[in-house]
Order: sequence, then C-alpha cells, then structure tokens
Amino acid sequence: MNERNAELKFETRVVHECILPEDWDGATLPPICQSASHRHRSAESLSDTFAGKQKEHIYMRLTNPTNSVLEKKLAALENGRGAVFMSSGMAAITNTCMALLRAGDEFVASRSLFMSTYLLFKRVFAKYDIRCQLVDPLDLAAMEAAITDRTRFLYLETITNPGMEVPNLRAAADLAHRHGLPLVVDSTLATPWLCRPLEHGADVVIHSTTKYLSGHGNAVGGVVIDGGTFDWLGSDRFPDFAPFVERKGELALLDKIWREHHINFGTTAAPLHAYLTMIGLDTLALRMERHMANTLEVARYLQSHPKVNWIRYPGLPDHPSHATAQELFKGKGYGGLLAFGLKDQETCFRFINSLKLVYHLANLGDCKTLVIHPASSQYISFPDQEREEIGISSDLLRLSVGIEDVDDIIADLEQALASL
Ligand SMILES: Cc1ncc(COP(=O)(O)O)c(C=O)c1O
Repeated sequence: MNERNAELKFETRVVHECILPEDWDGATLPPICQSASHRHRSAESLSDTFAGKQKEHIYMRLTNPTNSVLEKKLAALENGRGAVFMSSGMAAITNTCMALLRAGDEFVASRSLFMSTYLLFKRVFAKYDIRCQLVDPLDLAAMEAAITDRTRFLYLETITNPGMEVPNLRAAADLAHRHGLPLVVDSTLATPWLCRPLEHGADVVIHSTTKYLSGHGNAVGGVVIDGGTFDWLGSDRFPDFAPFVERKGELALLDKIWREHHINFGTTAAPLHAYLTMIGLDTLALRMERHMANTLEVARYLQSHPKVNWIRYPGLPDHPSHATAQELFKGKGYGGLLAFGLKDQETCFRFINSLKLVYHLANLGDCKTLVIHPASSQYISFPDQEREEIGISSDLLRLSVGIEDVDDIIADLEQALASL
C-alpha cells in the first residue's frame, strides 16, 4: 500500500488499491497475461530468479503478473503483508494447512465448517496421521481444552456456514497466542469490507474469492493473506520454520505455503480469474452494503412468517452471536447468508420448486439471490447422524440474499411459501 492510499477510506481503496495505469500503457485494469512462461535475456537472469536474488516471473504455475496485482490488492485490503492467489478457496485452505502441519500433528477448528473444509479436516487429513479437534466456535474453554502439545494452530470462520455463528476473534487470537499458536481465519462470508480479522489478532486470513470478492458467479479462486505477525521461532512448536524465517522473515509462512505446497501441488489460478475478480472487487463495498440491508429485511420477514419454524441470522437480536457480531462488524451488517427451517425435507423441496426469481444452485455471495437444501445436496453423502450433529437438519434451507430490489426477493419467497 502506498502512503496516499493509507489515508483513503476502504470504499475508495477497494477501487484504486494497486491499480497503476502508468505501468500498463494507461489501461485501468492490468492486462490478462496469458503466457505460460517468461523469457529471460541472460542465463544469469534466470539463475538469479530461481535463486531468489531477483523478482522476475518464470513460469505460470509459480507466478503470473496479473495474479500478482490481485495478490497485492487483496493483501492491502486486509492490511496484510503478502498474499498468494490460488485456483480455489479450497486450494488456499489446503495449502495453508499443509504448510502448517506435519504427520502426527493436531489442530483445533470450529465444528461448524464449510462442507469441503470439514471433509478435508476430518477425513483427508486423518489419512496422513493428522488429527483435527472440532469444537464449538463460541466456546473458548472447549477450544483451550482441545489444545495439546501437538497442536499447531487454531482455525475459525468469521461467520460459519450455515450455522451463522460469529466467534469472538480477539479472544480466540489471545487464547491461541497464549499457547504459542497462530490463528487462521476463513473470512469468506465477511469480506474485508465487513471485518478484517488481522486487525482483531488473527495471523492468517483465507478467502474463497469465488464468493463476494468476485461477486458475479463468473470466477473461481482463493487467497491466503499473511499478516506477518506471528513469531514462528518465538514459539517452540515450529522448529521446521527456521529456513523459511531465514529466507523471508515475517513472511515465512507465505513462503512455506508457496514454495512447499502451492507450486508443487500445482494449485495455480488462471489469470483470467484474477482479472474477473478485480472487476468484481471494484463494486465490493456497494454490493456488500446492499447484501447486508436486503438480508436483514428478508430475515425479519421470514422470522414473522407462520410457515417458517426457525431462522438463523446473527442480525436478529435472539441469535446467540448477535452481540459479538454487532461489536466485530461495528454495526455495518451481519452477512448476506441466512438459514431457516420449514416443516420437513419434502416441504423444502416444494418451496424450492415454487421459486420463480431465486436461483437454486450450489454457490453463495453472487449478486443474485440463491437457495439450496444442504442436507440433500452438498451433504448427501454424510451419514444421517453426522449430518445432524453438525447442524445440517433435513428441514434447513440456506439462502444467499442477492442485491436485487428486496421487495421482489420477498415477493418471490412469499408466493413460494403461500404454495405450501
Ligand atoms: C466459507 C467457505 N470457505 C471456503 C469455500 C471454498 O471455496 P471454493 O469453492 O472457492 O473452493 C467455500 C465455498 O462455498 C466457503 O463457503
């Protein structure tokens, strides 16, 4: 971030940050640099680049000029020190965790996790002798009790999906640091417009940029942003970080993620996705404002409807996370996602099939309003008991509220509920 931008408001920075037309013949967006590799004029130049003595691009799997602009922009917006953009949110989560973990290690995570994150943590990592302890994200005592001498990090989501819980990030960060652990936060549902976890003590932030950051359902991507705050060698849990600290100092984790995992697992994002994400980012603040306002209004409407049995949204005063969300999000809003319950699965299906405006699909954070019945779709392969235990009941519908006129969204919900 340059000095001029540091004085600007987020709404201005999200448009202008790291966009430097003078570097690109006056173009107001960086070009899509669609080249698999980059020519070096001398043998010394390529050798020096591989040796890390100079920063040049080599090969698209490693870095790409378009992606680099988005990385700088996202790091600046989260007030982080550096970022790596990857092929998906799951790539960012997998690479970050793999860089932090070794066989035999443990970590502590919220039990309310995005479905693929849950499967990665509980099923995939178990194959490599890595144990994930799942706890209630609102229960700090349970979090602390789950920490052992093998624990390497704490992992939370700013707003859980679809539990809609909002953990106290500052308290979780203090707890993690007392035990010499970093706090990693998936902040996909909040975006840096609503909350910047690094400012609340987190050490690493992850986003699926597929959602609100791109905002138009046209690009897939993920990013990991390193706050550069964690003292890896000050904690006796990270002796394997020494070479990375020596090479990159405060950005040791980002270097480990990039060097050990991202480039070898080949989780590269195509530059078109970085380009599309940058176009989406320009309107992030405006879109988020409308998402928040619409979601609160839809939540109030659903809460008062006799055919809706229950509703989960942290913007409603009776939600267990309402007070924490109010403090963390400074009254700007409570997210664009909510969950509500109808009579049973059959009723949920009839409701979905009656909708005319709302799209039925597996995504969230699009400018269009989206609905899904998680138990019969994303979670269909889960055993019934496990699905219930993690709060995916068969009467649950998840709504990602878009930026349309809220009267039209409510009218569509109204006619679908009336048909039941
Ligand atoms: C909170 C959260 N994190 C991560 C992901 C994964 O992102 P992607 O689909 O880009 O891999 C999702 C996807 O829905 C999500 O909701």
